[in-house]
Amino acid sequence: MGHLIIEGGRPLGGAVRVHGAKNSALPILAAALLAQGESVIHNCPDLTDVAAAAEILRALGCRVRRSGTTVTVDAPAELGHTVPDGPMGRMRASVLFLGALLGRTGRAEASWPGGCALGARPIDLHLGAFRALGAQVRDDGDRLVCTADALHGRRIVFPFPSVGATEDAMLAAVGAQGVTILENAAREPELVDLQGFLRALGAEVAGAGTARIVVCGGRPLRPGTYTVMADRIVAATYAAALAATGGAGALLGTDGAGWSPMCDALARAGCAVRRLPDRVELTAPPRLRGIGPIETGPWPGFPTDAQPLLTAALAAGEGETLLTETVFDRRFGYVAGLRAMGADVALDGRTARIHGVGVLHGADVTAGDLRGGAALTVAALAAGGESTVRGLAHIARGYASLPEDLSALGGRIRRHEG
Ligand code: EPZ
Repeated sequence: MGHLIIEGGRPLGGAVRVHGAKNSALPILAAALLAQGESVIHNCPDLTDVAAAAEILRALGCRVRRSGTTVTVDAPAELGHTVPDGPMGRMRASVLFLGALLGRTGRAEASWPGGCALGARPIDLHLGAFRALGAQVRDDGDRLVCTADALHGRRIVFPFPSVGATEDAMLAAVGAQGVTILENAAREPELVDLQGFLRALGAEVAGAGTARIVVCGGRPLRPGTYTVMADRIVAATYAAALAATGGAGALLGTDGAGWSPMCDALARAGCAVRRLPDRVELTAPPRLRGIGPIETGPWPGFPTDAQPLLTAALAAGEGETLLTETVFDRRFGYVAGLRAMGADVALDGRTARIHGVGVLHGADVTAGDLRGGAALTVAALAAGGESTVRGLAHIARGYASLPEDLSALGGRIRRHEG
């Protein structure tokens, strides 16, 4: 898929529109299975993960069409039950098709889901929720078979507010008879977006965005039309690029509410951040300063997906920051690339001690996962001289137009095929 060549060391500026959210679009595409007929999803980003979701939908019997940023999913009366191994192994969100299939048909089969390597990523909470709703789940190590004659609403208390398990439970619960109450549910903005789409289908769901989601299942569903929210991590990425380079600019199509912890962190590092209803404006100082200790956590905590981006920006600044990752076991794989650019980041277990060195230098680095790749791109824009960022396949999973958007902000960045 090629690599990026970046000539960094100059402030970015201007305005760029933030595309639709991957982590909303994927559960919404899975949810489109719940209602027979043609659902229309606007602002659906053109990403390889979204293409993988379309591949799954087609394998299950749906007709899927894209026109610009609108994706139409026509779900047939009779759906298949088996999620194909290819896309299942390429992304974690494929597990959401199990909940939707169970909710609609009472049967779902798949191999184990893949996704970014961020440490252990079990799916026990997903499968536990299916079982609680009355499904039998057979897991023979690499193949999952979930079946239910009928699902029944239940109260489910999650030991951890997992985003995916909450989504999967919502999807299955819509097809269950009676009321399901999800306690200690994930509160991320993507849950609110999924609830919005489920309501557009006619489902009765309330409470998303709080720790208690109530689903009154078994309602008749019809296809729906919905617009996916702006991607808060893409917004955080462009904000990090402006901040790391001492730039000033605007991110259009977002009010910053979904990524306010990143806005706050960048403000503490010295940026002026102005949140308006349709845009976020950011003006960075020539060098960011270190901020007090900060740790990632489930929403409304600092998002783990923005952790690599904040590290990259602060590494190019001055002063010290302790940043602790509490959500995933291994999410510092990108630090080796930052160090190749001269960054001073020491790792102690799940904590990074970032000592801003003021100026990074260009290097040849490789993305090992999606947000790590975005972080290396941010650092390369701040670094003096030329950098090469390889491993673009990871980046294409979550960014529809990273080099184009960063070029629009004045970055000297070009894609090389091969
Ligand atoms: C979602 O992943 C996102 N992916 C991730 O985005 C994001 O990093 C993550 O939420 C946290 O915000 C999608 O929405 C498609 P979790 P998910 O279940 O659902 C443990 C990106 O860069 N856990 O909230 O997989 C798990 O191991 C990405 O776009 C269990 O133990 O996240 C992890 O430590 C990558 N058992 C923690 O919970 C389970 O059954 C958080 O995972 C499920 C999760």
